[in-house]
Amino acid sequence: MNKILVFAGSARKASVNKKLAAVAAETARAAGAEVTLIDLADYPAPVYDGDIEAGEGIPQSIRDLKTLIASHDGMIIVTPEYNGCVPPLLVNSLDWASRPEGDEVSSAVFAGKKVAIAAASPGGMGGVRVIPRLRDFLAELGVVTVPGFVTLPGAFSAFDDDGKLTDEKTASMLEALVGRLVSSLAQ
Ligand code: FNR
Repeated sequence: MNKILVFAGSARKASVNKKLAAVAAETARAAGAEVTLIDLADYPAPVYDGDIEAGEGIPQSIRDLKTLIASHDGMIIVTPEYNGCVPPLLVNSLDWASRPEGDEVSSAVFAGKKVAIAAASPGGMGGVRVIPRLRDFLAELGVVTVPGFVTLPGAFSAFDDDGKLTDEKTASMLEALVGRLVSSLAQ
């Protein structure tokens, strides 16, 4: 009923988006959701290539990711902004996961999922330009993005030693966003 899958669009070990995803996961747990926090680095896949798909098929890592997505009602995606756009790791993972298998239709695993989105960047804009692009991309997959978003500027100095957000305003915006996702899943 309210299972939420949380991941960041960065594989980097010290990723600030992973840090924000971890805070979002904790916030969702506190709001009563059952939460699974994953690292896309654990689901590696080659850059999408129709020849790979036609030959070896969808990589096992992506099959595992699809199974996880299917078994959750909602997602929280926290992404870096690369040149104003959605980074290739996230695009590649979601593109692969959108591919059908057997009788499945394209993007079936995403249909009707509810998602909250956020971005973190060391820059002053917090990755705000990626938000509408990610929202459009997700809409193509049949995902319903809950209203609003959170951006985290100056992200390299936005967390304390325990990984908590030091700015209370951002923490409460994240709480409100995650709260909207959790209550939309309860309906
Ligand atoms: C960036 N970065 C960046 N930042 C930003 O705010 N707006 C942007 O358009 C870009 N563009 C961009 C392009 C490329 C190719 C790279 C590698 C980086 C910087 C980016 O925000 C920074 O590397 C973050 O630390 C990435 O997020 P993680 O890995 O820390 O989560």
